[in-house]
Amino acid sequence: MSTSRTSMHGEWSGRFAFILAATGSAVGLGNIWKFPYITGENGGGAFVLVYLICIACIGIPIMMAEVMLGRRGRQSPINTMRDLAEEVGASKHWKYLGWAGVIAGLLILSYYSVIAGWALAYVFRTASGVFTNVTGDGASSLFSRFVADPEKLLAWHTIFMVMTMAVVARGVKGGLEKAVRFLMPTLFVILIILLGYAMNLGEFSRGVVFLFNPDFSKISASGVLTAMGHAFFTLSLGMGAIMVYGSYLPKNVSIAKTSIIIALMDTLVALVAGLIIFPIVFANGLEPGSGPGLIFQTLPIAFGHMPGGTFFGTLFFILLVFAAWTSSISLIEPAVAWLVENRGHTRIYAAVIMGVVTWLLGLLTILSFNLWSDFKPLSSISAFENSTIFDLLDYLTANIMLPIGGLLIAVFAGWVMKRETTMQELSINDVMHKGYRAWQILVRYVAPAAVVIVFLKVTGIFDIATIFEAIFG
Ligand code: TRP
Repeated sequence: MSTSRTSMHGEWSGRFAFILAATGSAVGLGNIWKFPYITGENGGGAFVLVYLICIACIGIPIMMAEVMLGRRGRQSPINTMRDLAEEVGASKHWKYLGWAGVIAGLLILSYYSVIAGWALAYVFRTASGVFTNVTGDGASSLFSRFVADPEKLLAWHTIFMVMTMAVVARGVKGGLEKAVRFLMPTLFVILIILLGYAMNLGEFSRGVVFLFNPDFSKISASGVLTAMGHAFFTLSLGMGAIMVYGSYLPKNVSIAKTSIIIALMDTLVALVAGLIIFPIVFANGLEPGSGPGLIFQTLPIAFGHMPGGTFFGTLFFILLVFAAWTSSISLIEPAVAWLVENRGHTRIYAAVIMGVVTWLLGLLTILSFNLWSDFKPLSSISAFENSTIFDLLDYLTANIMLPIGGLLIAVFAGWVMKRETTMQELSINDVMHKGYRAWQILVRYVAPAAVVIVFLKVTGIFDIATIFEAIFG
């Protein structure tokens, strides 16, 4: 395969556009909605530390691998994996990794869109002024009443899916790139304003301690898996989203530098979101472990009490919708690119088909918060005793499918691809040789081993603590 091949879907206009698009994919509900609530559920500091280690040692090297595979293959993840495997004479079955990614993306988007719909609804609620002077209890009960209404959730989910399809149908430059250009910078500004509010609350230091003071007695093996799964989720890794974005990347852009920039920005947004949410939680006597409703129960309090709160609150939820939007398009893009390549459909048709499938799957999540909230399909397994279908979908995708996908991507990049190819794609010269070596060790050994060990530990097959004791104690 020639290395000068280009993608039939077009290309980003340059390095900056790619950084914006990939950051747009990475920064989303995962940072602002999910990171705070799973940190709250898993006791804070120790969880955050594990998450940061996973970003650095697993996330960044796998992101480089994914971008590299994409740029080398220049097609949807399914066809990219097939061709790259063929190029080195490896098994044809690698294309199923692309398939698993397409499926994971649609499953994630099915619930992602429902939550993005909540954010949309909160734009209008905040703008209407219902949160003015709201109490902690008031905000919580407004939220519970909202999610108890399946018709409302369905309406907002539908609107969000239509928004997603509309951008994806327009294609790489006209749709995806335009949307992220001005949204990402504005989001940063509003987060800083909110951080200013949180810093002036009496409980700011408690929030900082909660986030950064690790207490290892509070984290379990399943907490470690959640942290690792979230590292994949928040960086959009393990299912081909970053791979397909990489396939639109011009040839001369440095993969290592851009991956590090993207990961740093993503992490920064998550930490700032935590520094905003937890001081509000503590100042209002709320429960850090209150689950998926956390930001919808805390932020309205801040907006209800700060000067200009209606304005800033509305703006915040608008930006949250945009952050979710620039992520949702990357969740569906691998499926759409594949339909265009292999079935010859137009982008518009492909986006509608995949959008409708995802929309239907979204009903499972909607019902999990109301009519089916007592339906716990795996309640016989103690770990899933209280899990609704939404919880199971989230667990299956973030904690199982993404880490396995990431593991296989790391193995492919580290062991299956030729060293000359990876060196060439990562444009290694003599000066950067150490960096290449480090990357290679991380994708060959560290990332795969970490995923396997965490899995074994969670399933109870293997106890790291005992092994550590055996070696060091
Ligand atoms: N990273 C996004 C977030 O944090 C969600 C997302 C977009 C994603 N594309 C993905 C997660 C691909 C996993 C895989 O909100």
